[in-house]
Amino acid sequence: MQAEPLIDQWYAWAHLIPPATAARNLTHRHLRILESFLNAPHVHANAAKNAAMLGGPFIHYGRESVAELTELRRRTRQERTNLLELSAALEQLDSMLRTVPHDDPLPPLYEKVPEILRGYVELHYDLRNNASFRLLEPLLYRSRFYDPSGQSLILSITSGDDRPFALSTPRLCSPGMVHLRWKFDDARVDELFKLRRAPKPWAWIKDALEIADEDEQTFRSFLTSEPPATYQPHRGAGLRWRYFGHACILVETAHLNVLLDPVVSYRYESNIPRYTYADLPDRIDYVLITHNHMDHVLIETLLQIRHKVREVIVPKGGSGSLQDPSLKLTLEKIGFRCVRELGELEQLPLRAHGGCIMGIPFIGEHSDLAVATKLAYMIRLGREQILFAADSCVHEPRLYDHLHAAIGEVGTLFIGMECVGAPMSWLYGPLLLRPIERGIDQARRLSGADSAQVQALIERLRCKDIYIYAMGQEPWLNHVMSLKYTEQSRPIVESNLLIRRCVTDGLGAERLFGEKEILIDRLSDEPVAISA
Ligand SMILES: [Fe+2]
Ligand SMILES: [Fe+2]
Repeated sequence: MQAEPLIDQWYAWAHLIPPATAARNLTHRHLRILESFLNAPHVHANAAKNAAMLGGPFIHYGRESVAELTELRRRTRQERTNLLELSAALEQLDSMLRTVPHDDPLPPLYEKVPEILRGYVELHYDLRNNASFRLLEPLLYRSRFYDPSGQSLILSITSGDDRPFALSTPRLCSPGMVHLRWKFDDARVDELFKLRRAPKPWAWIKDALEIADEDEQTFRSFLTSEPPATYQPHRGAGLRWRYFGHACILVETAHLNVLLDPVVSYRYESNIPRYTYADLPDRIDYVLITHNHMDHVLIETLLQIRHKVREVIVPKGGSGSLQDPSLKLTLEKIGFRCVRELGELEQLPLRAHGGCIMGIPFIGEHSDLAVATKLAYMIRLGREQILFAADSCVHEPRLYDHLHAAIGEVGTLFIGMECVGAPMSWLYGPLLLRPIERGIDQARRLSGADSAQVQALIERLRCKDIYIYAMGQEPWLNHVMSLKYTEQSRPIVESNLLIRRCVTDGLGAERLFGEKEILIDRLSDEPVAISA
């Protein structure tokens, strides 16, 4: 059973939760796509079939959906006036600040802030005397601009990886689906997904989840009387890690379960082996999130594992800039009760194994925008040091000289090499408060590291086992990634090159795909006595 989280029928991702980014995406993504479709539905239908336009702003429905999408546009304009006003006010505030003569004191300008934003922003200069603003995000969440009433879940049967790109097309309900108009933080979300491991009688389910009579038949088609598969936890003295696809890795010891960047496939017949929800432990001590891109913060997976998670660790953020909303607040709003921010070189001690989780600087990959909410993680267990670098770039190799001095050698490295990422506007376009030239947009991409950069990192941290991950190759991510590589694609060419070099240098190197399991027999954390 697939469970898609929606906001006003659009596939939910992390920028649709904070009021300011939600407002900008509403006006500058969703309504624009709807307008464009309603003007020329055939153009969208054709573009959506064109592989070269995969991931573009095209609705993959045809003319038959015009009436329903006209109604969605009408309802959105009527019910989301708060967000429409917020989006316009942010633009007005930016225009007002652009007219400020450099160096003028800012306090007199507070009364010129658009009325609805007054009390929700602080005005400031950067060190080059450009006037700007910071959003007081916790207050915005308590204002009329945060309204989770449009959140819902659509349940359906899923039987394969061929999900269309989800971010440009509103989800319309059809037979065989159950539309649950629950907010994401609803306790019934947890009760629903607990059923994967803990069966209950139908009467209990219907009552606890308040399933409507008209949905009963369809809902029951998602259930099975087969007992759930039993999960085999790791019991050995050492460590087991399993690759679930993309940047999702489960690290287990006998006492600890850590899951990074959760993105989990559903289970169905496929010739690509993979771990699924059935392969997750009942308790996940820590979920670690590296950064706020939709392939690393997948609300669809997060809601389905929330009931298992004790604590989520996120990069320290909260700068209040439009492009860098607080991930802590976002996750709290979707129902995670225990979310902790970790900073660069800050450590979270792990009682087991005398180890720790350490935040490691992650630079680049955000189109050169000031985004602080990104962090690589090093897990230290015994003498093992494993670095999960996600989409870190190595623009300045000296960073890793300094890190080597601070943390020593890192035996195992996981790093993404999506070295040709999407243009800036693909993700950040709706947030930009002045149009950007096409050339700049194409040049400032969401690109990860190439082979020379990763090589520089490996040399400095003396890595011995290198795993290239987070490549977006698993087809169960098609609905958010829209990547189709060939052997000639640069990320593949570059990662092949890196693997060859590493092998020549006597290092282990592999590009992960599908699933992988590695066992490390023992963690060398035994107490060592001084000899007499
Ligand atoms: Fe990324
Ligand atoms: Fe990524």
